[in-house]
Amino acid sequence: MLIVANWKMYLTLRQSEALAERFARLEIRDSRLEVVVCPSFVALEEVAEEVSESKGRWLKIGAQDASWAEKGAYTGEVSAEDLKKLGCRYVIVGHSERRQYFGESDAMVAHKVAAVAKAGMTPILCVGETWAERRGSRAERKVIGQLTATIKKSKISNLKSKIVVAYEPVWAIGTGKTVEPEEATRMHGVIRSTIAKMGWLPKTPILYGGSVNQKNVSAFLSAPEVDGVLIGGASTQWLSLKKIIVIAKNISR
Ligand code: PGA
Repeated sequence: MLIVANWKMYLTLRQSEALAERFARLEIRDSRLEVVVCPSFVALEEVAEEVSESKGRWLKIGAQDASWAEKGAYTGEVSAEDLKKLGCRYVIVGHSERRQYFGESDAMVAHKVAAVAKAGMTPILCVGETWAERRGSRAERKVIGQLTATIKKSKISNLKSKIVVAYEPVWAIGTGKTVEPEEATRMHGVIRSTIAKMGWLPKTPILYGGSVNQKNVSAFLSAPEVDGVLIGGASTQWLSLKKIIVIAKNISR
């Protein structure tokens, strides 16, 4: 079971460090639970240091984005290679906020997936529909389109590297609204069969994301086809993230 904490730009460097320090002290003796903390780029080194002091192998770090380019004249970009050197195991790619505010297209996302995989990390590919698309019964079509475009262009199926898919309905992110767990199961089934049709790794973990918190996490983690969750807001507070981790630990038993 995989829990990804996306801290976005919510925390300062010091707050990220302090939160990571508290987490690293948690004793989670469960090899089936993996928690990935994704702080901002500037906090990665400090958070990595805290994580390295945690007992067991349950806590890892990830980045929120990476450049599709290896190196060169790309002002403001951060290479996958450097993220790997800092200790990142995962990189979130194609988050809807990146697509919406920074103009990331499926093609850019595909190149990022390839760059992350090439550097030896696991891309967490985010897909999901807007509210207008859901209302217009186009949710499935949108998600299948994003997946197939990315898989084809990234040539990830040739790389045979592991990848995680996060189903995150755009309208559920940061709004307090979620799909019903049954609907998450159905959409995850659509994602899994799309992956299978494209000859991709059938055991790809599929996460649900969008307004997951300590109250609803148990329903999502208990739903069939849901291999974990991607959490934004609720993962930036010690008590709620701790509670979520304890719930996940009990379910993964
Ligand atoms: P949220 O964010 O949990 O705050 O809705 C989820 C995400 O953006 O990944």
